[in-house]
Amino acid sequence: MSILKIARMGHPVLEQRAAPVADPTAPEIARLVADMYQTLDDIGGAGLAAPQVHVGLRVVIFEVPAVRTSEENEEGIPRTTLINPEIEPVGDEIAVDWEGCLSVPGLRGAVPRPARIRYRASTPEGTRIEREVDGFHARVVQHECDHLDGILYPMRMTDLSTLHFVSEMRHNPRLNQPAIPVEDVA
Ligand code: NI
Repeated sequence: MSILKIARMGHPVLEQRAAPVADPTAPEIARLVADMYQTLDDIGGAGLAAPQVHVGLRVVIFEVPAVRTSEENEEGIPRTTLINPEIEPVGDEIAVDWEGCLSVPGLRGAVPRPARIRYRASTPEGTRIEREVDGFHARVVQHECDHLDGILYPMRMTDLSTLHFVSEMRHNPRLNQPAIPVEDVA
């Protein structure tokens, strides 16, 4: 396994639509997923999409231990690998919460997204996964899947006055609000 280099905002791999994976059970996909988990464990985040490690394929991983989740998700989010994921909103409710991104290091901003979603995907084991989720789980899946379509979270922001460096937020009561922990970037 290898720790992979993270692409940062401006690299073209983050601007492209990633290609579908022809065979989710292929050995090279298993290797990619293993390297992505090792990279995520090393850098400390909630999720990672393949384009963030310079691979233009529709693969995302995420995991949030129970200790880091809010009350609504206090059981945590199990380690999950999604291949060729599809998302649809459930209902009209929009939630706004803080997000950070390993490809936009040091920054955080408030991002509106559908509060509840249904997602479907293949797994590296060759099975199908379908879940209906809300809270941070819904947010991290939408954030990761946006990476597959060349979208970074600042492109989803409607109030750019909330974009800030995490290192400055303690000086600013407007920004220093209960939020996802800094390590929950994705
Ligand atoms: Ni990200």
